[in-house]
Amino acid sequence: MIKPDYKIEVIQHIHRQAFGDEEGPVIADLVQKFMALKSTLSITAEREGQKVGNVIFTPLMIDGHPNRYCFLLCPLAVLPAFQRQGVGKELIEKGAAHLTSIGADAMFVLGDPNYYTRHGFGLTNIQPPYSELVTMKEAWRMRELGPNALPGIRASSKAVEPIMNPAYWDTSGHTE
Ligand SMILES: CC(C)(COP(=O)(O)OP(=O)(O)OC[C@H]1O[C@@H](n2cnc3c(N)ncnc32)[C@H](O)[C@@H]1OP(=O)(O)O)[C@@H](O)C(=O)NCCC(=O)NCCS
Repeated sequence: MIKPDYKIEVIQHIHRQAFGDEEGPVIADLVQKFMALKSTLSITAEREGQKVGNVIFTPLMIDGHPNRYCFLLCPLAVLPAFQRQGVGKELIEKGAAHLTSIGADAMFVLGDPNYYTRHGFGLTNIQPPYSELVTMKEAWRMRELGPNALPGIRASSKAVEPIMNPAYWDTSGHTE
């Protein structure tokens, strides 16, 4: 008998619940595709023996700078009943610590600027994939992991294949 991979299902469940009926299934599908890649880093947070939060990091390639070692933080999710209790912060900090330990230069995110500013992400000269669709410029942010890891570099970037889809980068539906 083949055992189902509960780990992926539990992680997908967290994202489905956190992102809701509309976005949840799309994100859960993306999670499955990310988890199939060897280069993916997935970190899960537990409370009282239950998996309550997950974050995924995938490589982000900086055009013209092949030696830079960068990651995209996407997606981050915490079960609704456990939100605003520091789980998201714990996942970001664990991710930052691990990526620093493996020599990564920076991590990038496309998300709520109010939230990510509070977690050490600033504006950057590295452009996101499909930058013309990222109309909400302050939503694209970077957190350096080494001192002066990406000094003043201006460049475009590419993410891994599952998220190289314009639909994931179009912020025109969001207002801030
Ligand atoms: C966004 C999300 C991951 C945050 O996780 P969380 O565990 O609730 O966040 P934390 O408790 O670690 O938050 C830490 C701080 O950010 C604040 N915060 C939490 N959610 C926030 C939000 N949506 N906007 C602004 N600030 C927020 C908290 O008040 C807390 O501040 P404090 O440290 O000064 O008290 C979670 O709300 C979630 O899963 N949302 C749905 C999915 C989603 O939108 N993911 C992000 C995609 S980019």
